[in-house]
Amino acid sequence: VNVSTGGLNLTFTPSTTHPNSYAFINGIEILSIPDLFSSATPLLVDGDDGHIVYTIDPDQALETVYRLNVGGQAIPPIEDSGLFRSWDDDSPYIYGAAFGVSYSNDPNVTITYPTSVPSYIAPPDVYSTARSMGPNARVNLNYNLTWILPVDAGFYYLVRLHFCEIQYPMVKINQRVFDIYLNNQTATKEADVIGWSGGIGIPVYRDYVVMTMGRGQMDLWVELHPYTLANPEYYDAILNGLEVFKLQNSNNSLAGLNPGARSPLYVDPGDLRKGSAKHKSEVPVIVGGVVGGFAVLLAGFCLIGMCKCQKKKMMKEGKGAATSNGPYGLSHLSLYGNTCSAASAQSNRCRYFSIAEIKAATNDFDESLLLGIGGFGKVYRGEIDGGITKVAIKRANPMSEQGVHQFRTEIEMLSKLRHNHLVSLIGYCEENCEMILVYDYMAQGTLREHLCRTQKPPLPWKQRLEICIGAALGLHYLHTGAKRTIIHRDVKATNILLDDKRVAKVSDFGLSKIGPPADKSHVTTMVKGSFGYFDPEYFRMMQLTEKSDVFSFGVVLFEVLCARPALNPMLSDEKVSLSEWALHCQKNGMLDMIIDPYLKGKIAPLSFKWFVQTAVKCLADTGKERPSMVDVVRNLELALQLQERAEESDSIDGGISDETVLFVGIENKNSDDRSHWL
Ligand SMILES: *[C@@H]1O[C@H](CO)[C@@H](O)[C@H](O)[C@H]1NC(C)=O
Ligand SMILES: *[C@@H]1O[C@H](CO)[C@@H](O)[C@H](O)[C@H]1NC(C)=O
Ligand SMILES: *[C@@H]1O[C@H](CO)[C@@H](O)[C@H](O)[C@H]1NC(C)=O
Ligand SMILES: *[C@@H]1O[C@H](CO)[C@@H](O)[C@H](O)[C@H]1NC(C)=O
Ligand SMILES: *[C@@H]1O[C@H](CO)[C@@H](O)[C@H](O)[C@H]1NC(C)=O
Ligand SMILES: *[C@@H]1O[C@H](CO)[C@@H](O)[C@H](O)[C@H]1NC(C)=O
Repeated sequence: VNVSTGGLNLTFTPSTTHPNSYAFINGIEILSIPDLFSSATPLLVDGDDGHIVYTIDPDQALETVYRLNVGGQAIPPIEDSGLFRSWDDDSPYIYGAAFGVSYSNDPNVTITYPTSVPSYIAPPDVYSTARSMGPNARVNLNYNLTWILPVDAGFYYLVRLHFCEIQYPMVKINQRVFDIYLNNQTATKEADVIGWSGGIGIPVYRDYVVMTMGRGQMDLWVELHPYTLANPEYYDAILNGLEVFKLQNSNNSLAGLNPGARSPLYVDPGDLRKGSAKHKSEVPVIVGGVVGGFAVLLAGFCLIGMCKCQKKKMMKEGKGAATSNGPYGLSHLSLYGNTCSAASAQSNRCRYFSIAEIKAATNDFDESLLLGIGGFGKVYRGEIDGGITKVAIKRANPMSEQGVHQFRTEIEMLSKLRHNHLVSLIGYCEENCEMILVYDYMAQGTLREHLCRTQKPPLPWKQRLEICIGAALGLHYLHTGAKRTIIHRDVKATNILLDDKRVAKVSDFGLSKIGPPADKSHVTTMVKGSFGYFDPEYFRMMQLTEKSDVFSFGVVLFEVLCARPALNPMLSDEKVSLSEWALHCQKNGMLDMIIDPYLKGKIAPLSFKWFVQTAVKCLADTGKERPSMVDVVRNLELALQLQERAEESDSIDGGISDETVLFVGIENKNSDDRSHWL
């Protein structure tokens, strides 16, 4: 509000359309701000190419509707450039699966404000992160990088787009040129950020005004598409920040729908696609692999940031995802720009490491620091920050073609997750065609190592239960902690890591997938994962649900109980697959013959019974019959309690009657009734 007459009156009036209503307020803050708008000369986007400048009336009030740090993380008020604004993450507003690539500035690029852009316009953190379409020109030509922002119809909106080139080699004009569309109408053709700003690291912003017709709620579309006619060097687009302000209408009103009546701000891409089948097919999906027989064919493009790696030929990886192992999921290294998971996401930003720092951390990739080797590269132990922080450094083999896939989308999602039972990514390095990820170091390695070929002492039953509960909590969080379900797709004992206190952390989200939209039961997708752990339903019909993770987790439970791998080709046919063999033994009352000999006589019978029931349920043939992860957690907790009580009463064989179990409910014939799992 432009307060020019020395006073500001605020009046609250009960709605006349709601009898007996009253007005109330809990707090009022008034902050004086520099003039953010009077110098704005926004172009009116009205379908004509006329480029009329819309004049904002000095008396016209504006309401902030969206303020997004595109390609970066949320910026809290305290980190704003003095104006206490909150900048939100843009990814919930991105249309469909086409997330592009988010990244931050090269370390030698500093944000330098020109006089035309006062530093209060937006903080450096906004300009130093960006989202672009991705390195594949062909893919980029086939889609629009699109944000969809629900707004109240019937108003003019000021849309402010913030741009800044922040990575080499983007220093010249006609390198990255693109078109900007607002509400499907051309706002600017041939946008060239370097052309506007004059150089790398120099912020620039552009204002537009769009008109929305009608009443109720509608979507504001912001779309970017490469402009090709001038033959730019890259077919790509970039955006660093996005603000949307509602303009007071001619009745001096900003009144819109009651905020509670709005649809949630998170736009379900599935819903959006419903009305637009055409668009759906245009969303690029890079198919990363197919399963044929027992070979996993991994087809990938070398999509490495700005490195001018040549697109490499398709790759056939005989065993690939199915057999690779080792900590930090070497099988699927996924690096897509600046994508960080879990703990690092909020506290400290995802860090950028130079190759020199990585070399220093690993003593120039000293083989004696090797933690593991997989199909796509090696994992090293390392130290950063002068030895204070121990890390695990996953390096894609520079010589091998990387099975890069579409998972940037999903990992991008994961970067918002934060959980004690998920491994966190500290940072990354992308230089000289190297793709390197830096994780928290998990001192105790993988769960698998603790179960076989073990120099490590066998784990006691209680600890195994605690590890299973931890991993189950991590998966439960993946399934339910975000706005959309995230399906891990590669749950196995080698992807469950243990920190120095043996706290279990789920790792390797390289194959993770966003779950189905609300109106769908499954995601149809190529079968990927690891043999021995495949949900049969998924394997047969390519229909992925979160229950596919539950199945794999059931295999892990038997792995924990029997201390043998999910697949052991050395054994006779009926025993090769742990899931089949365990179910067979359970049916025939022979399970105690296949449990880890170390555990014999050490598991309280009720704890055993409850654990096995849970594992068997997880391995049910259809997803419907399997419990959800939260049920699995509860049942494992119960198994743990039963074990603890038995150990307290110092009697493994007695002390607890079956009534205890009846109290929480016992196996119920009707498998659709999940109440007995609660
Ligand atoms: C605020 O309200 C008072 C009382 O109605 C009026 O005298 C004053 O002019 C108003 N001020 C402004 C800035 O509208
Ligand atoms: C505020 O209003 C006054 C008087 O209408 C005008 O002179 C001034 O430029 C306006 N300031 C802004 C920032 O619009
Ligand atoms: C800055 O660093 C990038 C790599 O991060 C490099 O390609 C570029 O040449 C460097 N530029 C200058 C001016 O040092
Ligand atoms: C823009 O086009 C899409 C389909 O291409 C449509 O669903 C959407 O409603 C349009 N948006 C506006 C504001 O017209
Ligand atoms: C990009 O958006 C514009 C404006 O809505 C539309 O005309 C064009 O067809 C879109 N292109 C693609 C590839 O979706
Ligand atoms: C302004 O108010 C009048 C009367 O309340 C209403 O009929 C009209 O639709 C309003 N105009 C706008 C742009 O909201």
